[in-house]
Amino acid sequence: MHYLDHAATTDLRPEAADEWLRVARTTGNASSTHGAGQQARRILEESRERLAEVLDCDPIEVVLTSGGTESVNLAVQGLWRSRQAAADAVVLPDGEHHATLDTVAALAADGATVRPVRLDAVGRIPVGEFARAVAASGAALATALVANNEVGTLNDVAGLAGAAAAAAVPLHLDAVAALGHVPVSFRSWRGDAAAGAGLVALSVAGHKIGAPVGTGALVVARSARLSPLLHGGAQQRGLRSGTQDVAGAAAFARAAELAESERDAEAARLGTLRDQLVAGVLARVPAARLLGDPAPEGRLPGNAHLLFPGAPSESLLFLLDAAGISASAGSACQAGVAEPSHVVQALGRSEAEARSVIRFTLGRTSGDADVDAVLAVIGEAYERASGAAR
Ligand SMILES: Cc1ncc(COP(=O)(O)O)c(C=O)c1O
Repeated sequence: MHYLDHAATTDLRPEAADEWLRVARTTGNASSTHGAGQQARRILEESRERLAEVLDCDPIEVVLTSGGTESVNLAVQGLWRSRQAAADAVVLPDGEHHATLDTVAALAADGATVRPVRLDAVGRIPVGEFARAVAASGAALATALVANNEVGTLNDVAGLAGAAAAAAVPLHLDAVAALGHVPVSFRSWRGDAAAGAGLVALSVAGHKIGAPVGTGALVVARSARLSPLLHGGAQQRGLRSGTQDVAGAAAFARAAELAESERDAEAARLGTLRDQLVAGVLARVPAARLLGDPAPEGRLPGNAHLLFPGAPSESLLFLLDAAGISASAGSACQAGVAEPSHVVQALGRSEAEARSVIRFTLGRTSGDADVDAVLAVIGEAYERASGAAR
């Protein structure tokens, strides 16, 4: 099997699995005051400290969640609900993940206004337009991806955070696709922004870096005001009530430390593999085009997002799958119906083009054999998929 969909989810790291099992075997609720509870509490807080070290924030700012979707919901809904009396607009770049898009759509039903920001042709948020959108009156919050999970384009995060700080608007960053691949630093991106302004919240998910599914975190600045989604025992500064998942936290911390320590070497290795994959595909399918930023330093190292004109994504995915290759169209696929990618359309591409893309994403377990497998079949797969569509 050649797994080239690491952006969807990646292999569980054995060290994270071991840590999970070891901690899961200990009894104790981290909120209990007896010895067993205090032992759980100690492991939990150590895990929080380890995560804070990787994310470059204070441990108290790490709010553990069930994953990326929950983190994004807590940030976007929480910020909007705490500010809606004063301001109702959400600055929303095109091409965000559905966790963000659909959360904002739900808020729109409650009275939020949506202030879109168009992407440029490589999928990057233009800082100037973003700055104008946050500075216009009535902005309750802004949100943005650190790295686009489909086309892999990296944003100018310092520029976006600076614009939000200058406008005194709170900013949420979705770093789910970025963590483990490019530097993520809450403290430096936050800078010396005033209380409650600039970068105040940052989402990450464990399963993208080799921790178990069901782990994640939202970094929430001490000064941020956020309405919680979950009410109950007031754990985690009252922002996320519920008994805390100590084993999940320990496994997430272990995976994050490993991903961070391997990051530079892996980025170089995967960047080379990615370039071989892209060059090989373009040599075999001259009509194909790389989408996103063509500059290696402007995109996620393991991301190769390609347009195959005239070849439906589903047909290509089917033919690749038959050859033992798992890739994706990078778009939500519900009830078996592939949607045209909203991200590809946000780059100015047509709906037909947005239905003719494949996202190959490399990860820790990827190697030459995976690239070779794609190159062995992609030419014929394109011929068949585009021929059948004619
Ligand atoms: C950029 C981005 N944000 C949010 C999510 C949602 O994360 P989760 O699957 O952990 O809920 C994903 C998952 O693909 C993502 O890529």
